Amino acid sequence: MVANKTTLKSVFLENRVLLLKITIHLMSLLPLVALYLLAFDDQLGADPVKEVIHFTGMGGFNLLLLSLLIMPLAKKYRQAYLLQVRRLLGLYSFTYAVCHLLSFLAFEVQFDLTLFFNEIIDRPYITVGVGAFIILLSLAFTSLNSLKRSMGKSWQKLHNWVYLAVLLIALHYFWSVKSGLFDPGMYAVITVFLLSLRREKFKRWFKK
Ligand code: HEM
Repeated sequence: MVANKTTLKSVFLENRVLLLKITIHLMSLLPLVALYLLAFDDQLGADPVKEVIHFTGMGGFNLLLLSLLIMPLAKKYRQAYLLQVRRLLGLYSFTYAVCHLLSFLAFEVQFDLTLFFNEIIDRPYITVGVGAFIILLSLAFTSLNSLKRSMGKSWQKLHNWVYLAVLLIALHYFWSVKSGLFDPGMYAVITVFLLSLRREKFKRWFKK
């Protein structure tokens, strides 16, 4: 019995990264598929477009915050294996952001690019959203290990832009709501908290 328990524990420990990755795939993909199935089946209430934009926006933001939580968690509890799921969380954050943008383009501006560019100019919250999206796009495209190796030090410099992206998203959220500032306020506090955990890193940048 004790031997069985030990074997089970060691199998779990050996495969914990795989199990974590499977959990992330399921928890990220299933809600997204369910969202669009419900939307196309007219099951999302009176304003399905608003629901889809809300869900994909919040999903993208939550996943990005989760990816930023990994490093401090791994350091504090000495669980280096957690770092292996950071990229997956970042890529799912980008996937949600793509769905968010595509839903906006399809349902809010009907792929009218002139209207879209006017929105970028006229609405500051859209401007910062697009800024954040461009950063996430460049991080996603350079996330391959082969590119990481070939880009050398500039890879890390580029990926440090994630800190600006998360600030822009917090601002985008804050600016986009018309009433009820509690939720975006809480998200802003969480964002600043996660960034404050990296204050030593930021201090080093400014000393250079
Ligand atoms: C690509 C450019 C983007 C556009 C055009 C865009 C557009 C929008 C729109 C139209 C809304 C709804 C505002 C309203 O309720 O009236 C919104 C809200 C939101 N967006 Fe974006 N967004 C962009 C980028 C992003 C990115 C990159 C993220 C995060 C990964 C994000 C996260 C959010 C969040 C969290 C909300 C608030 C959701 C809510 O309160 O319903 N957005 N965005």
